[in-house]
Amino acid sequence: MPRSAILNVMVQAAMKAGRSLARDFGEVQNLQVSLKGPGDFVSQADHRAEEILHNELSRARPGYAFLMEERGVVSGEDDQHRWIVDPLDGTTNFLHGLPIFSISIGLERQGQIVAGVIYNPAMDELYTAERGGGAFMNDRRLRVASRTKLTDTVIGTGVPHLGRGHHGNYLIELRNVMAEVSGVRRLGSAALDLAYVAAGRMDGFWEHALSPWDMAAGILMIREAGGFVSDPAGGAGMLESGSIVAGNEAIHRALLKTLKKPLAPR
Ligand code: IPD
Ligand code: CA
Ligand code: CA
Repeated sequence: MPRSAILNVMVQAAMKAGRSLARDFGEVQNLQVSLKGPGDFVSQADHRAEEILHNELSRARPGYAFLMEERGVVSGEDDQHRWIVDPLDGTTNFLHGLPIFSISIGLERQGQIVAGVIYNPAMDELYTAERGGGAFMNDRRLRVASRTKLTDTVIGTGVPHLGRGHHGNYLIELRNVMAEVSGVRRLGSAALDLAYVAAGRMDGFWEHALSPWDMAAGILMIREAGGFVSDPAGGAGMLESGSIVAGNEAIHRALLKTLKKPLAPR
């Protein structure tokens, strides 16, 4: 399916920022790194990629507003459109030389996510989606996995760490999920986790304390691949609450149920 003009703009911006990340990844030991908070790092690579994305997107669509991880809110004259951007999702992986990181760009129109791009430069995998137009990986149409029994599934998650709260509640959730599934994975880039659910590589995903830029593109990607996404209560408050649960219809439902269970006996 040919890409729309706006999706092309997003793809070009992501590829250009991706080349910058790939160069920095090759010299990761020379990058300046600073600490934003406990366990929360930012590097020159994040800032350089964000600069490229801001320049490319604002040149193509002057006036659109931004919500970017490093710059925060950048207001624009056009109050109908907003870019939601994570220039490097998976900074911890990146700084450790783990090639699992991505660029995530979501476009919101009147409060609704209408286009999304997630790009992993290390694997040259480009995920795209447009509302009503399906989801793709390097031009191959995506469909969520079809497994319907939790016992057959691989489920992705994000493990809270230093500086992130609710470790105890998370351990209860993990204990209940791990007892019911074939495998649990923690990849370290929430945007890529969501893209992998869209691609059927993982059957489901849940995480808390995420930010809108981690999820905006991925939510659309999963829905356009036929999947279901919600907050843990089954509502649509993912961007507001930071909590997300995803999968195909059956796995999404089963995960919601399992995540609500009290701690199971050993
Ligand atoms: C992080 C990644 C990670 C998730 C963290 C996020 P960052 O984003 O998405 O998988 O578990 O909660 O903050 O900081 O690398 O952009
Ligand atoms: Ca992120
Ligand atoms: Ca980031």
